[in-house]
Amino acid sequence: MQTKVEKINAKSLNLAKKLILEGEIVAFPTETVYGLGANVFDEKAVKKIFEAKGRPSDNPLIAHVADFETIKLLATDISADAKKIIEHFMPGSLTVVLRKQKSVPDIVTANLDTVAIRMPSSAEARAFISACGVPIAAPSANLSSRPSPTIFKAVFEDMNGKIPLILAGNDCEVGIESTVLDMTTEPTILRPGIITIEQIEKVLGKKVNTYSDQNRKVNSPGIRYRHYAPTIPAALEMTGDVKKVLNFYDKLMSNGQKAVILCLEEYTNIFSGKNVYSLGKTEKDAANKFFLALRECEKNYDYIIEMFCPKTEEGFSVLNRMTKSVGGNII
Ligand code: TXA
Ligand code: MG
Repeated sequence: MQTKVEKINAKSLNLAKKLILEGEIVAFPTETVYGLGANVFDEKAVKKIFEAKGRPSDNPLIAHVADFETIKLLATDISADAKKIIEHFMPGSLTVVLRKQKSVPDIVTANLDTVAIRMPSSAEARAFISACGVPIAAPSANLSSRPSPTIFKAVFEDMNGKIPLILAGNDCEVGIESTVLDMTTEPTILRPGIITIEQIEKVLGKKVNTYSDQNRKVNSPGIRYRHYAPTIPAALEMTGDVKKVLNFYDKLMSNGQKAVILCLEEYTNIFSGKNVYSLGKTEKDAANKFFLALRECEKNYDYIIEMFCPKTEEGFSVLNRMTKSVGGNII
């Protein structure tokens, strides 16, 4: 299949709509990461998403909407607290898990009786969803287990030849995926993101659970799979132990492996003379740059050393992705 890459405009949105309504899948930008979308109600089309990504079928997808009315088509038993969350954080980088309506096919929710719903804040994403006129089931537009795509070129890397159209929009502003909040029980964060527990607690006026290992297994199947893996080995240092990082780096280099240190800009002086990739000034910058950093470093080096010792909740959400990207290789 030939993959078209089109800038977002009236013409490409029209083509996207046509493809979606014909049962095809289309990649599109959001403010978090690029998504790979299909008509929620078209089981065959949704199946194509799992095939293109190589995604395990027991990992459910998020239903993306562009307006509040559509949420009622997909979800039921929306509690007063869930309403508060929806009104306060949508559109935005938060996904809410609710009881599903029967109309949502089982393939979308991996047979769960809940559905994850998100209304992106990105105008481009909403233009795409509105143009299609149906809710859009979409995971991140990467091959399963690869870093999520934050620029359209990263989507092309993974999806060229597998999908008919990539809508090429802005680079993603947030850079990590949405916060996933389960509102079918006591409010529980299933995946941390740029919208923080603190913000959510403030809106609800009550404590919000964080994902415990127990919850993770039961509630968010996606969490048990390998995620965000670069094509080269990677290790993580998360206490800010510069000496440890330098020792590890020197050992790799003396073994003939070209290593690179991924860290915030404030550390780049300490590592001067070494191969360094800056994640920017702030922990929010790191969220924005991290996935692209993995994709760029794997092309130029043999080993990635991630050094990150977060101080903010946003930073901890980045650390969550980093921990997965190294597959447990913590130094
Ligand atoms: O920012 C985002 O959320 C991006 C963009 C494209 O919107 N999408 C995204 O989708 O990250 P994906 O499929 O890569 O991650 C969805 C996560 C998975 O961990 C999945 O297990 C969880 O949401 N999820 C989906 N439906 C669920 C449900 N009914 N209950 C619990 N977790 C669910
Ligand atoms: Mg994903």
